[in-house]
Amino acid sequence: MSEDLYRGLQVLESDEHSLDRLDRLKAMTGPLLAWYGEHARILPWREEPTPYRVWISEIMLQQTRVEAVKPYFSRFMEELPDIASLAAVPEERLLKLWEGLGYYNRARNLQKTARILMERYDGRLPDSRSELIRLPGIGSYTAGAIASIAYGEAVPAVDGNVLRVLSRVLASTEDIASLSVKRRFEQDLAAVMPAGCSSAFNQGLIEIGAIVCVPNGEPRCGECPLHSVCLAARNNLTDSIPVKSRPKPRRIEERTILLIVSHGRTAIRKRPPEGLLASLYEFPSLTGKHSPREISETDLLDGAGILRIRPAPDAVHIFSHVEWHMSAFLIETERIPAQYAAADPDELRDRYPMAGAFDKYIRFLGGES
Ligand code: ADE
Ligand code: SF4
Repeated sequence: MSEDLYRGLQVLESDEHSLDRLDRLKAMTGPLLAWYGEHARILPWREEPTPYRVWISEIMLQQTRVEAVKPYFSRFMEELPDIASLAAVPEERLLKLWEGLGYYNRARNLQKTARILMERYDGRLPDSRSELIRLPGIGSYTAGAIASIAYGEAVPAVDGNVLRVLSRVLASTEDIASLSVKRRFEQDLAAVMPAGCSSAFNQGLIEIGAIVCVPNGEPRCGECPLHSVCLAARNNLTDSIPVKSRPKPRRIEERTILLIVSHGRTAIRKRPPEGLLASLYEFPSLTGKHSPREISETDLLDGAGILRIRPAPDAVHIFSHVEWHMSAFLIETERIPAQYAAADPDELRDRYPMAGAFDKYIRFLGGES
């Protein structure tokens, strides 16, 4: 479609006549739908938007970029093509499929919900936002996305990207980290959503937030279909909007990682089923920074028969609320103590779901760095 036609579709405004909030949101519809029809990226979950595929993709896309999600999505669909297979897969295999995506509770909640669906919903996802939102791991955004994209229900799907776009269009200086601000955007969008095209409407807003009104760096207002209705663009406010209050700073935790190696195998152990990195595998470690002498005395090495202790590289891993600052030792031993699983490099890669925090050490042990 030509630029002129876009302009024609956009609501003409003079400076004297300012649209009120709902009218301004409503004025986005025409240009938004026209633009989405032309510019929507071709993505695996858009090709065939079944409820299951939309659900899985939307959960993966929370906190993770589209390009990073693509290979995970296709592997996941190949191995777990439906709700029944997701409900039945061993947790360890599920976590392995999720390895590297982070926020593993997302995967555990997927399985919890799949099991509920098998037991109480005839193996299907319910078709309304109000029922979807009661399922584990499905919040307001995800429920709206599934209901609108897979079932065509006229309900909004407001995530951080959409909040950024809307607050700019309205030049709203309210804090987009606030739940009440998000709720109000949801209500207002619900009031202006065109019936019959809620999927394109919601995905259009998400898409503009992803590729035009981008989170880092300058928004591409020159290419944006919302340019003529956007108050932040008109008033040069894109540097100061959105307003988003900072979450509280992350706690820093020092850890000392023990890479206990014997006859080509490394000691790993499974983390407890609750809390950070629940049920994932890890290298044994101590909180705090420790010397080789302290290490040699820890009960983590009981029965190992220490041959040699050498320093290994430092690493940092950032979680949402904590940062691990890791120092490490490569410890050659006579044997892997019985309290651990003993994994060779292939098993570290292919069998055990290892916490992503240890990627650098897995590569180190594999001789790749
Ligand atoms: N991010 C979140 N949901 C998305 C979707 N449906 N398409 C592209 N990016 C997204
Ligand atoms: Fe964002 Fe610019 Fe589009 Fe406004 S015109 S929504 S600031 S990209």
